[in-house]
Amino acid sequence: MEQAQNVTAVPLPPGPDGLPLLGVLPGVWKDPLGFFLKAAVDYGPVARLQMGPKDFYLVSGPEEVKYVLQENHHNYRKGYDQARPLFGDGLLTSDGEEWLRRRRMIQPMFNRTRLSFFSQFMTQATEEMLDRWETLADQGIIDAAHEMMKLTQTIIVRSMFSSDVGEEAARLGAAFDDTLEYLNRILFAPHPALAELPSAATRRNRRALAYLDAFIYRLIERKRASGEDTGDLLSLLVLARGEDGQPSLTDAQVRDELMTIFLAGHETTANALAWTWYLLGLNPDVEARLVEEIDTVLGGSPPAYDDLEKLRYTPLVLHEAMRLYPPAWMFVRHAIADDELGGYRIPAGEMVMISPYVTHRLPQHWENPEAFDPERFTAERSAGRHKFAYFPFGGGPRLCIGNNFALIEAQLILVRVLQRFRLRLALVPGSRVIPTPIATLQPKPGVPIRLERRY
Ligand code: HEM
Repeated sequence: MEQAQNVTAVPLPPGPDGLPLLGVLPGVWKDPLGFFLKAAVDYGPVARLQMGPKDFYLVSGPEEVKYVLQENHHNYRKGYDQARPLFGDGLLTSDGEEWLRRRRMIQPMFNRTRLSFFSQFMTQATEEMLDRWETLADQGIIDAAHEMMKLTQTIIVRSMFSSDVGEEAARLGAAFDDTLEYLNRILFAPHPALAELPSAATRRNRRALAYLDAFIYRLIERKRASGEDTGDLLSLLVLARGEDGQPSLTDAQVRDELMTIFLAGHETTANALAWTWYLLGLNPDVEARLVEEIDTVLGGSPPAYDDLEKLRYTPLVLHEAMRLYPPAWMFVRHAIADDELGGYRIPAGEMVMISPYVTHRLPQHWENPEAFDPERFTAERSAGRHKFAYFPFGGGPRLCIGNNFALIEAQLILVRVLQRFRLRLALVPGSRVIPTPIATLQPKPGVPIRLERRY
């Protein structure tokens, strides 16, 4: 796609009519996922949506998504200023040269050797959860979404701090939960100031953040003093050195990266897994095939990092779950200068919305898009599909840095759980699991399951 030189003569994209002042907000409030998908189907790859006083540009066509995230990414900045108290200048929300410097420095922390090291935390924590499940089997219903959240939280905390956390693990977990709640409020308050209004929740969130800051800074100080490399992310970030031999990151920068990795790196994976359990519960034929592959390839031995490449069907199941329910269901960019996109004008300063949820369900790119069909991801059936028809981890230079971490983690968990248990979906007749778009796409009110031991 060519970048336009003079775009003032180019028309604005089409979009639905809305009410005066509110625009299309009532439709968005009622059913955000349904509304955005319909807008993309009705108005095409670039649609203009008036929400309140501002226009937003929903970019859903794979070619147009590629243009924003990759080809002309320099013109689209992140600009999550309201989330600064949490992430500071961390990777997820920073822009420009400083982002690039940090990305280059942090990328190797997620290479194969490191991931293989982190996989021990994944398998250990999963085994601990399953041992606890032994006492819960046959005892009623548990929420798979909650269980996955606790599990991925344990894994990310251990990957960040390894054994340093000790007895503070529970308090730390609660503080991180509170901080996630804070993030959701900040991101979804109609105005940033509203999220900061004095209330019991604001006070609790602020206390949690202060506790986390103190905790993280204490560990950073200890690590700087000892200089000991324990292989965890804290060690890697604190001990990183530039060419001049000086620390690459200040204490505040290490804090920002740890907070970012925590917040970006567990709720997403937990949701991917929760939706996978839900879909497997609804599709026993897929579950049976998955179990057959696991039993044939591993024969009951716990999976290790190197076993994953032998599994063919397991990753397809995860991809299909993330196609239907991408945890990062929407993210945004701000146009820096006027641009032309797909024949339409994107004015400088406006906000572009990119939604994997929407693109992943477009009927012109996906046959029978609502069906759960993991085999659509086989090499044969993927041939010819646009690379940006499926992008649960984003794309271009801002591609998720933890994508391999997440895929390894999710597969190790899926495999080990299915070696020891069957998860039976236990929906009350007439009830439904509703995809709820908050910061991530959450199954509400949860994924109720009954555990059955396999052996
Ligand atoms: C299924 C799990 C996950 C999903 C669906 C997911 C999704 C995403 C997406 C869509 C982006 C790009 C956002 C944008 O372009 O605005 C992103 C960025 C990022 N993710 Fe993930 N993520 C997952 C797991 C993880 C994990 C496990 C970690 C860390 C251990 C992580 C850390 C990050 C970071 C640091 C960024 C910012 C990268 C940058 O801008 O340079 N994510 N993620």
